[in-house]
Amino acid sequence: MNHDDIREHFFSLDDRPPELAPNDIHCWVISLNTPANDETLDDEERDRASRFHFDRDRRRFIAGHVAIRRVLARYQYVQPHDLDFAIEEGGRPTLADARVNFNYSRSEEWGLLAISNAKILGADIEALRMSEDLADVARQHFSQAEQSALNDLSGAAWTEGFFNCWTRKEAIVKAMGVGLAASLDAFDVSVKSEARPEILRATDDSAPAREWALWSFKPIDGYQAAIATNLAAPNLHVLREKMQSGSRQ
Ligand SMILES: CC(C)(COP(=O)(O)OP(=O)(O)OC[C@H]1O[C@@H](n2cnc3c(N)ncnc32)[C@H](O)[C@@H]1OP(=O)(O)O)[C@@H](O)C(=O)NCCC(=O)NCCS
Repeated sequence: MNHDDIREHFFSLDDRPPELAPNDIHCWVISLNTPANDETLDDEERDRASRFHFDRDRRRFIAGHVAIRRVLARYQYVQPHDLDFAIEEGGRPTLADARVNFNYSRSEEWGLLAISNAKILGADIEALRMSEDLADVARQHFSQAEQSALNDLSGAAWTEGFFNCWTRKEAIVKAMGVGLAASLDAFDVSVKSEARPEILRATDDSAPAREWALWSFKPIDGYQAAIATNLAAPNLHVLREKMQSGSRQ
């Protein structure tokens, strides 16, 4: 999927969301620096929030979960505090009595909430950062083919390739819902920015199928994101808060 397939909309988190057609994926870009009150969260969320070492991380966790509830409540036609979450076997959060499926990701100041009717749905957002340990991460987590594609690149193109690969793999793992049990070596994704985001290889016993659709986009300056789904002809809509400024994808 390339960027021409992505449509952009501006909304308030409390607006009624646009209709979610069967092939749609709505991707809400959420600021985690917006102060939020935890009164709509449940005991488990409050308990998780209380365990963050740094206040800033706690505030961002709360802001993300308050936003998740505000947005999902509009799709489920309930109040935010009435949403009931369950955790699947592999660790993936899901909605009890779900009208929609969702997947959430967060990195530093931004969260990404993907919502769809598709059962297979994974989202990942990462703050772009330069660091020497990225090469170690690539050696540890990327397949041979992905490392070889990355080795063709240098400088800024290498960093972009790294985050393309990282977010695409992570979105796939999250769509599979298996968390750390995923075998990252069982599939290859395209790496270079000029290449179409796609799964290039998937072993027979790995969960992702080559036909799964992948997108890469920049939800905001300094961040890279990817979405994975099994929808055959998906339409991706990026929804931003009205007051937000920042880059387009
Ligand atoms: C949860 C996991 C899938 C992703 O964690 P992460 O990258 O730290 O976090 P993200 O911000 O992208 O996603 C976190 C959100 O994913 C959701 N999530 C948690 N477990 C999940 C699972 N098994 N499947 C799908 N989504 C999950 C939750 O909504 C969570 O939000 P919360 O912590 O606020 O409740 C983790 O198990 C993991 O890190 N797996 C892969 C690790 C890896 O080696 N990646 C290398 C890729 S190249």
